[in-house]
Amino acid sequence: EGYWVIVPAAGVGSRMGADKPKQYLTLNHKTILEHTLERLLQLPALNGIVVVVHPLDAYWSELPIFENPKIKVIEGGQERCDSVLNGLDTLDEHLQPLDWVMVHDAARPCFELSDVEELIEKLDEHLVGGILGVPVSDTVKRLNDNYGIEETVDRRVLWLAQTPQMFRYGVLAKSLREALQQGIPITDEASALEAAGYVPLMVEGRRDNIKVTRPEDIPMAELILRLQER
Ligand code: CTP
Ligand code: MG
Repeated sequence: EGYWVIVPAAGVGSRMGADKPKQYLTLNHKTILEHTLERLLQLPALNGIVVVVHPLDAYWSELPIFENPKIKVIEGGQERCDSVLNGLDTLDEHLQPLDWVMVHDAARPCFELSDVEELIEKLDEHLVGGILGVPVSDTVKRLNDNYGIEETVDRRVLWLAQTPQMFRYGVLAKSLREALQQGIPITDEASALEAAGYVPLMVEGRRDNIKVTRPEDIPMAELILRLQER
């Protein structure tokens, strides 16, 4: 009983501000998207990967990895959640409501396979799904509109959300569609499920599973990948 992985890679990378979308920038001579896909292809029990790219993407077809029979490419939408929903729509014919679907950002090439295996293991009997994340380590302040610090928030209950995120297909598709219809702002899959009243599980990953977002993240990600090789 395997699972599919959806990889949203249809963003333009505005915060990176490079001359091409950030997933096509290279880390140690290989594109970020290739790093991410090569790692995902090593997952046990993987049925296949749906990579969601921008309709005008001129780069993906240049990458040899797209000849891999386990990889399928489709077009994305305006927001990240539209891209993920397009992925779910293409998988619909293959899936039953209780089947697992994983979502992983193209822009997170440094995740460790062992963490994903732990996520899968911890979700074994779970009815909804869960995500990798890490506890906040800094002291967290809540501000007013004038940068005045109003309070220190109890950080013991605060965690940063990462991907992979993994959910039962039925609840994920239903929650994402509802959130979109109701105009609820969602930046990850879990937030759509939370808004629908579900309680996804948090599984502790590691801090170096960074989302490559800004220029300074590039040398950081290169270093993390090098350290992981040893
Ligand atoms: N993504 C997507 N479809 C969109 C927007 C984003 O598939 N309409 C993907 C990105 O390609 C990325 C992941 O979702 O792999 C996380 O998004 P983010 O880090 O925000 O990437 P971008 O949207 O490209 O970057 P920015 O927000 O700085 O423009
Ligand atoms: Mg974005």
